[in-house]
Parts: sequence; C-alpha cells; structure tokens
Amino acid sequence: MFETNTIDAGNKAEFYLELAEQVASVLHGEPDEIANAANLSALLFEQMPDLNWAGFYFLKSPDELVVGPFQGKPACVRIKVGRGVCGTAVERKESILVEDVEAFPGHIACDSASRSELVVPLIKDGKVLGVLDLDSPKVARFDAEDQAGVEAIAKIYVEACGG
Ligand code: SME
Repeated sequence: MFETNTIDAGNKAEFYLELAEQVASVLHGEPDEIANAANLSALLFEQMPDLNWAGFYFLKSPDELVVGPFQGKPACVRIKVGRGVCGTAVERKESILVEDVEAFPGHIACDSASRSELVVPLIKDGKVLGVLDLDSPKVARFDAEDQAGVEAIAKIYVEACGG
C-alpha cells in the first residue's frame, strides 16, 4: 500500500518537487511499464487539481498510438501519429501545452468536458515510446511550470521502466 499525503498546490514549484518525490517513491524498483503507468495515472489524478483525464498512450506501431492505463472517462483507443494533440506531440518529439482545446486545430475530443490539455512524450534513447496526457475541464489549467513539472515526471517514469 502507498500512503501519499495530499500536496498543497499553492506554490507550483514546491508542488512539483513534492509530486516528483512521490512519483519516484511509487515507481521505485518496478520496471513494468504498464504497472507503472497505472500507478502514475492514479497518483497524478489524485494529486493534481482540476483534471478530468490523466493517462497514457503507447506507440504500438510506428504510426499509431494505443490507449494505455488512465483515470477518467473511457477514451479514444487509437490515435494516428500526427493527429490530435497526442499524435502531434509524438511527431514533434516535444511536449504540447494547449490552453484552449477549441483553438488547437485537429484536437480530438475524447471527453467533451476537456477544455485544456498537456501532452508530454515519453522518450527513451531518442525514441518515442508514447505520451503522458493530462486533460482539464478548465481553460488554461496548465502553464509553463506545469509543463516543466510534468516533463520531469515523465522522465522519472521512463527511467523507472528501464530507461
Ligand atoms: N485530446 C487528445 C486525445 C486523447 S484524450 O484527450 C484522452 C488529442 O487531441 O490527442
């Protein structure tokens, strides 16, 4: 059993330092990518305020992402590379912060409640394994501090899974 204290989200820098510690502790010693994705989705969904979806898509073939463990409503199963926010993050090999999903051409609406989104690619040895996707019902829920904080968490995940 993991006991995780609720983190005070008032100061984002401190919030992400503490969250990264919790992530490292929950993933410690476990290389299984599905088990770690499941626990990481649960932890992020529990600790980060104002999320309606938190989870993973994995690159199962060179041109298609397939949904992995997540928290939130059932989601689109397959997303082509280059499509939506997730497929675009894979193509660009960089994280994408969308303040207003209605302003992102080609955004794929899996949950109609989603208003903003942050997608971070999982990169191991220069190769994209998939993405970590966070959705919020609030416009502009994520800023550059969230982007940097979640990028650091994605790195911990990749390293834990044998990266
Ligand atoms: N909105 C994403 C699709 C995945 S769901 O948000 C869970 C996209 O445009 O790629």
